[in-house]
Amino acid sequence: MKVLVAGSGGQLGNSLVNQKTRGIEWFGFTRQEMDITSLCQISDKVNLIRPDLIINCSAYTAVDLAESRHDQAWRVNCDGVTHLAEIARQWDIPFIHISTDYVFDGFKSESYLETDQPSPLNFYGKSKLAGEQAALDAFNKVLILRTSWVFSEQDGNFFTTMLKLGLTKQHLKVVDDQKAGPTPVKLLSSIILQLLSLYQQQSTLPWGLYHYCGEPFVNRFEFVEFLMNDMLNKGMLHSLPELEAVDSSIFPTPAARPENSCLNTGKLKALLGRLDNDWRPEVQQLLAIKAHQLTSSELEGKYETL
Ligand SMILES: NC(=O)c1ccc[n+]([C@@H]2O[C@H](COP(=O)([O-])OP(=O)(O)OC[C@H]3O[C@@H](n4cnc5c(N)ncnc54)[C@H](OP(=O)(O)O)[C@@H]3O)[C@@H](O)[C@H]2O)c1
Repeated sequence: MKVLVAGSGGQLGNSLVNQKTRGIEWFGFTRQEMDITSLCQISDKVNLIRPDLIINCSAYTAVDLAESRHDQAWRVNCDGVTHLAEIARQWDIPFIHISTDYVFDGFKSESYLETDQPSPLNFYGKSKLAGEQAALDAFNKVLILRTSWVFSEQDGNFFTTMLKLGLTKQHLKVVDDQKAGPTPVKLLSSIILQLLSLYQQQSTLPWGLYHYCGEPFVNRFEFVEFLMNDMLNKGMLHSLPELEAVDSSIFPTPAARPENSCLNTGKLKALLGRLDNDWRPEVQQLLAIKAHQLTSSELEGKYETL
């Protein structure tokens, strides 16, 4: 099965196209190779490859910048997704798209179901929600997977940021009023592979919206506590930094974030039978690799190479 992946330079896209899976031939394209804001570029690639399935891992993910760059965020997260879905419809190629927990405002006290009404607090969430709706309107073979707090060893996510801070700071303030499911990219990729396998077996999928994220749900402070304790256990720290739980108001950001964006994964669990989504072993594994990479002199206090 030939699978075209848009956004293969990002955390998820890169992880997916590096999966060695029998029966799947990946055709990954970075933004430079296929810009989804260009209908022609997508059309050319699809015409050339004739994929059996298209997965969109590309997105404008700079949540704070999106507040001042509405056009850029909209062109990728809404217009680009519309292009992909339109072309998927023209060629009758099933389309898997990734979306976000930030479509919700966070005022619900329990975890969010697929049937809950989205109401994004920030522009990134608005543009992603518009992309979801455009894809579902354009074509009837679209599966959207909403996820949250995606992390990997690739720089630029909450895990790698806090890892660096843990190695360099004695005192850390971390917000405790944002709660969700941290999602290791490795587990997210493997869920997508399970969906592909189901598609191969059945030649179809129950299309529509699904939620997938890591569990247990934690606030950012609890996530950092887990991370720092494991760093200490692995000898990456001489002592735990002093951790202070604070409100988000201490770190004002251009984009507001939901207090609760925990996603209920029951629908996907019912589809796949079981769901592998404990993020804690994945944090431990990533830290074990990082601890191994750090030389002893770096552990003495020079961490610039991280
Ligand atoms: N990261 C999270 O915490 C998180 C949380 C919830 C949902 N999600 C969703 O999960 C999906 C994967 O996220 P990720 O963490 O893998 O994001 P990522 O690492 O930021 O990767 C996104 C990729 O999209 C590419 N891209 C941007 N504009 C593009 C365009 N016009 N055409 C083609 N490619 C373009 C980027 O390329 P450049 O770097 O060259 O711009 C980047 O390689 C996204 O849909 C995101 O919205 C992520």
